[in-house]
Amino acid sequence: MPLPALRIDYANVLDTAVGATHGLSLAELRRAEPEVKALVARIERERKAGQHRYRELPHDTAMLATVQAAVRRCRGKFENLVVLGIGGSALGNIALQTALNPCFYNLMSPRERRGPRLFVMDNVDPAQFGDLLDLLGPSLRKTLFNVISKSGETAETAAQFLVVRDLLRRKLGAAGLRANLLVTTDPEGGTMRGIVDAEGYASLPVPPGVGGRFSVLSAVGLFSAGLCGIRIDQLLAGAAAMDRRVAKTAVRQNPAALLALLLYLFYVRGKRLHVMMPYSYALKDLADWYRQLWAESLGKRLDLDGHVVNVGPTPIKALGATDQHSQVQLYREGPNDKVFIFLEVERHARDVKIPRAAGLPAELDYLQGRSLGALLNAEKRATEYALVASERPCLTIRFPVVRAETVGQFILLWEAATTIAGGLLHINPYDQPAVQMGKEFTFALMGKRGFERQAREYAQAARRGGRHVV
Ligand code: PA5
Repeated sequence: MPLPALRIDYANVLDTAVGATHGLSLAELRRAEPEVKALVARIERERKAGQHRYRELPHDTAMLATVQAAVRRCRGKFENLVVLGIGGSALGNIALQTALNPCFYNLMSPRERRGPRLFVMDNVDPAQFGDLLDLLGPSLRKTLFNVISKSGETAETAAQFLVVRDLLRRKLGAAGLRANLLVTTDPEGGTMRGIVDAEGYASLPVPPGVGGRFSVLSAVGLFSAGLCGIRIDQLLAGAAAMDRRVAKTAVRQNPAALLALLLYLFYVRGKRLHVMMPYSYALKDLADWYRQLWAESLGKRLDLDGHVVNVGPTPIKALGATDQHSQVQLYREGPNDKVFIFLEVERHARDVKIPRAAGLPAELDYLQGRSLGALLNAEKRATEYALVASERPCLTIRFPVVRAETVGQFILLWEAATTIAGGLLHINPYDQPAVQMGKEFTFALMGKRGFERQAREYAQAARRGGRHVV
């Protein structure tokens, strides 16, 4: 049976819909196509030479088998799964869970759920973390902690790990500590790998050459998804199908090339705010995942030749219909500096009928006998129509249904679009030097050895700045 395919509808970014001042012409697209075609061909060549390693994940059957084996070993043993990670080591896990498990999964009874409750802790907020430990205290023996850190150096994850390691050791002893901990990290180097090897924890690899925000389709995102009952084989099958589409050099046949080109052309024209607005609760955390991918990959100070360029679109997430009552006033009448990316679901996982009832005011007749799904999709179309009427460019990514195959397609689509957009902006989409600096100064402020220079620099800057507090 053919997989249900994602479609991109871009009619409403064209000048025919939003006018020549704010829309793109087909002629403009055609003029840009040879450059994108050459870029996609180059990426495919580089891929064969070992670059863009995330593109291989959907086809990596050995990796899938390793994760499935780990899932089988843990199945039925735990009531809770706690992921300790941040950024690319957490956002994909959250997105998969929201997209592919029932909304109130953690509140369901163990018999109704397809796996343990899932808690993804991507912060070091002491009140939040302390509350989680209190909640899990009585069922600690039935709680698996999956520490995820590619580098093994990240302060937030390292701190969480130290707290949990101490807790498990005190409450369950050395054997319990090993039984309740699984570490996903670099298979060869880094602080966490050293600890895993020295202390004998079970581990899963983050594939070499795959950066955090491109790693959701590896053990990083797949283990928690698999243990919570998500069909990770189907997720990868969807991603593999999209991988074939995004390898095509003809721009109109390659959804990632088209997305990257449209958003790049708008960026050059000064529309630098890219709002992703799913009309589906299931897709809301994929918008969060996209926000990291687009921002951290494309926001760069230097281009590939070392020139200072300070480029990068600002991704924004919104949720339909909720944010119609929060953001749409600004989106329609505020500055025309945004492109809207709607996510629309043709067939929702389920629908709720609005009942007919006698004796109610005639003003409510239009709702009676309809469904919440029909209302939500009508709101999407109406909001888009209103934005287009105000000359705001809008495109729609259409999901026939939300299930593992289509979510896999969506992930690979945006990862590939990010690589292509990086090429168009002439920057490296895979590094994050600015985040690195924050990490280093956190080390300095926490007194880590080797970061004394940064600590001095910080103190000097603080003195220079003086104290201006109201
Ligand atoms: O995308 C990235 O590279 C980052 O967001 C990382 O995922 C994040 O900083 C966490 O890094 P690590 O997995 O090394 O702890």
